[in-house]
Amino acid sequence: MTVIDEIKDRLDAVEIIGETVKLRKTGKNYTGFCPFHHNTRTPAFVVFPETGTWRCFGACNDGGDIFKFVMQKEGWDFPEALARLAERAGVELRPHTEAEEAQDEVNERLRSLLETLITFYRDQMLHTPAGQKALVYLQGRDLLDQTIADFELGYAPESWDAAMNYLREKGYSPDEMTRAGVVSERDSGGCYDRFRHRVMIPIRDGRGRIAGFGARSLDKDQLPKYLNSPQNQLFDKGRILYGLDKARKEIRKQDQAVIVEGYLDVIGLYQAGFMNAVSPMGTALNEFHMRTLKRYSRRIVLALDADAAGDKGTLRGLSLARESMDREVEPVFTVKGLLRYESRLDAEIRVAALPDGVDPDELVAESREAWPALLESALPVVSYVFQVVTKDLNLEDPKVKAQVAAEMIPLIEDVSDRVEREAYRQMIARKLQIDERSLIGSSRGRLAGNLRTAQARAGQVHRFSGKRSAQEDFCLGLFLRQPELLTMINNRLRALDLEDVSPGDFMGTDRQMIASQVIEAARHQDQGLDERVWDRLDTDVAEAAAALRDAISEDELDLPQMREEALFSFLMIRQKNLKTRLDAIKFKLEQPTEDSGTVSDGEGVQQTPTRDLLKEIQTLLSGKKRLDVALAQRNGMMQDGMVSER
Ligand code: UTP
Ligand code: MN
Repeated sequence: MTVIDEIKDRLDAVEIIGETVKLRKTGKNYTGFCPFHHNTRTPAFVVFPETGTWRCFGACNDGGDIFKFVMQKEGWDFPEALARLAERAGVELRPHTEAEEAQDEVNERLRSLLETLITFYRDQMLHTPAGQKALVYLQGRDLLDQTIADFELGYAPESWDAAMNYLREKGYSPDEMTRAGVVSERDSGGCYDRFRHRVMIPIRDGRGRIAGFGARSLDKDQLPKYLNSPQNQLFDKGRILYGLDKARKEIRKQDQAVIVEGYLDVIGLYQAGFMNAVSPMGTALNEFHMRTLKRYSRRIVLALDADAAGDKGTLRGLSLARESMDREVEPVFTVKGLLRYESRLDAEIRVAALPDGVDPDELVAESREAWPALLESALPVVSYVFQVVTKDLNLEDPKVKAQVAAEMIPLIEDVSDRVEREAYRQMIARKLQIDERSLIGSSRGRLAGNLRTAQARAGQVHRFSGKRSAQEDFCLGLFLRQPELLTMINNRLRALDLEDVSPGDFMGTDRQMIASQVIEAARHQDQGLDERVWDRLDTDVAEAAAALRDAISEDELDLPQMREEALFSFLMIRQKNLKTRLDAIKFKLEQPTEDSGTVSDGEGVQQTPTRDLLKEIQTLLSGKKRLDVALAQRNGMMQDGMVSER
């Protein structure tokens, strides 16, 4: 491959041209206004991602590749365009030396060696008794002879030197065999066949050039399950997607690429007529994989096995390796990574989880229709994570809400498209029935906000009149100063037959986390606040808490009306909470029931409240009434000296 080819291979024409021309997708190509002649009416400038070329069908009728484009657009000469694009593509530019030409020749030779081996392995499978076992194995996995031929599957015999001898006869040297990755060297000197008694799966790069082999064990106790070619000058696992050579046409045609985990998934799907699947062969998906796929389609679906897909650890990118003795497979993805690819590559990534214990090849063998249905069910990354994170959780529980919100916020923040980001925020707030604002914001922004409200409030006398967030901050600050105030408020709440202060009384994850630690601290008074609060909160939340605490001065604390203010601030917070909860129930009742099917455009089917729900509504309503009364009597109570209750 020439340097120019390599650069074109690595760069995306749509991306490069899209930097100076506003492009819109039309079918599989992109159109915009030609930057080389004046035009504002019809967008006659077309970029063809498949070939990496462009053409203006308007006045200039000019066209070419990305080199020609940047030369014309930037006025660079060819050497400059080459230098700049090479740098951007991460391709090292050197004069094409004799050494390089020699290298190319070596690569050609290694490839022909591998091609020869494909024939050898096929013969072994089709024409030897031992190979019969491999064939039977593949047929047992529902593969047709035609498919086995299409994917050039074969059998490596149980021998230390069969492949070696065959290659030697064909004129290849031991050194070439080693470099091609089919022969291993003994420590004691000498070589042996790397692949023995395995089903051989040739691996080709996207352009169909042979790069190596994947080899599946035939016996249960033969480990590893898959032995691949070692990393070498032809085989770079991080750069090759298995099946792409066969899938790319179809990916383009369907405008969708599907990533599955295994070799046999790609093969099984292909046989079932789903020819747009590729596999990263057990390595973590990387940006190169994504870029490569995106050249054919920006719509990418990840079909993951239930384990990987449902593992919260994997989702958070925490689990570094799947625990299984027979494989050394990296996690397929991290959510952060996927979101980064989405924004950097302007891709659209969706995730579909396979049924428990069923791989794609098994799924289509069972029922062909199950596959399109599964792809149809694929969710955008954020929605997908939400589904996994909230699985088996009680979303009514304020603690759970806080925890889920805390997990989702950083992901929402990572969505690069503003409209999309807001849509996720709304969707999640609605599902959690929480205030959308509590899903806002980088912790730094939130912290700054907290600081500002806290500071603005310091010295403010009438706190009742403040906004809810200010009231909450005030209460939290007081609790942090004097946890006994919390006990005092709880006593008052109990007297009103209301629940104790809970984290759910506060808006936003930060406040909820602070509240939950303060509440715990008040419960274990002997331990003091210190370890409880400051050691258990994340640094930025702890800083926000400190700011809330510091906003209340010692002098203020000593004021006699402080307890009163604390009490009423909190009662007002609770009053609003009860209202919110009533609203939430109302909202829920207005939602169509799960099994009411598709609701026609008009009114949703209203739910009849269950007895439990009715009871809850009653409790909330009567609690709120008592609170309303208590708050209305505020002045009277202050005179009554209610607040002096200990
Ligand atoms: P899986 O362990 O999920 O296997 O590995 P599979 O594809 O379902 O295999 P079958 O169906 O039992 O034959 C997924 C992929 O990870 C790579 C292979 O590419 C495999 O297809 N892998 C797995 C390895 O490279 N080495 C291993 O030891 C295991
Ligand atoms: Mn499988």
